[in-house]
Amino acid sequence: MRLLVTGGAGFIGSNFIRYWLEKYGEDEIFNLDLLTYAGNLENLAGLDDAYGRRYGFTLGSITDTDFVDRLFSQFKPDVIVNFAAESHNSRAILNPTIFFQTNLIGTQTLLDVAQKYEISRFHHVSTCEIYGDLPLNSAETFSEQTSYRPNTPYSASKAGADLAVLAYHQTFGLPVTISVCCNNYGPYQNIEKLIPLFISKAICNQPLTLYKSSQNKREWLAVEDHCRAIDLIIRQGKSGERYNVGSQTEKSVEEIADSILQILGKPQSLKTYVPDRPGHDRRYLLDSRKIQQELGWKLETDFETGLKNTVGWYINHRQWWQQSQSSQIREDRWGK
Ligand SMILES: NC(=O)c1ccc[n+]([C@@H]2O[C@H](COP(=O)([O-])OP(=O)(O)OC[C@H]3O[C@@H](n4cnc5c(N)ncnc54)[C@H](O)[C@@H]3O)[C@@H](O)[C@H]2O)c1
Repeated sequence: MRLLVTGGAGFIGSNFIRYWLEKYGEDEIFNLDLLTYAGNLENLAGLDDAYGRRYGFTLGSITDTDFVDRLFSQFKPDVIVNFAAESHNSRAILNPTIFFQTNLIGTQTLLDVAQKYEISRFHHVSTCEIYGDLPLNSAETFSEQTSYRPNTPYSASKAGADLAVLAYHQTFGLPVTISVCCNNYGPYQNIEKLIPLFISKAICNQPLTLYKSSQNKREWLAVEDHCRAIDLIIRQGKSGERYNVGSQTEKSVEEIADSILQILGKPQSLKTYVPDRPGHDRRYLLDSRKIQQELGWKLETDFETGLKNTVGWYINHRQWWQQSQSSQIREDRWGK
């Protein structure tokens, strides 16, 4: 099989490429990435040597129709897996435009070209944030039938992309699937995101900045469990369907900070509190029974083990994350 992976130099995309090349010895992957501040070719170091002509990279944007068309005509992918996105909610408050250009128009550009070349599957990677948020203490969850109710420019741009994917299926018969996933953690995640940010700060004995609403919860999934879910959906999922992928493991931001400080043996006094981010969702929780029952997916990495492994990875890859430190944005500016 020939896969075109977009955004493969980012966090989940690079983990997915490593996972797939190792698991499927015959398959070829071409990685299309614009290498924004979030893309890092170091995430894919060693793949050329390990896999030779089975892995290739090209620099470009999913919003560039001519470029994407040329790539399809040369590489002739069977499957496209679309990870490429602007992915950081806090940045979307500062510059919403780029989020809609990349996440919505970029996805629609890929859909157009995919339709022209008659690919066998367009898999789109989405987020639980499309469903809006839940009260902190409720028994409610988001199922695949839950209406879209995004609250931020990031989640609205992702929701728009999902609807475009489904519309190309309904209108043109394009074979599509969507995975709707909760928060991921693991190796190669940019340190602007919560878990690597707290790990890197704690390692350096710097303050861990928590929003005032630090009891807000997120559902956490190890990135390799997400990769396995996408694999199953591509191979066995039904065209036109959406699959939620969640762990049922909820942790508040405060709990994450406490766990990381405890694993690293650092003091609680490193925690500091700043004004909240506008539109800060309280909680998301996915009902993932569909992928479990229909495709047999199940969680393999529990949060405690996954977090310890992740902390270990960041301790051992200090040079990798120190290089990206300069791209961080300040999380303490909302009250100013
Ligand atoms: N990280 C999570 O917890 C999470 C959870 C659910 C869903 N998702 C979704 O998964 C996908 C990947 O997330 P991530 O955390 O790996 O993101 P990331 O920010 O680490 O990586 C995004 C990648 O997309 C590339 N990119 C950006 N604009 C591009 C463009 N115009 N053309 C080509 N490439 C471009 C970047 O260079 C980068 O390599 C996103 O679609 C995100 O919405 C992420």
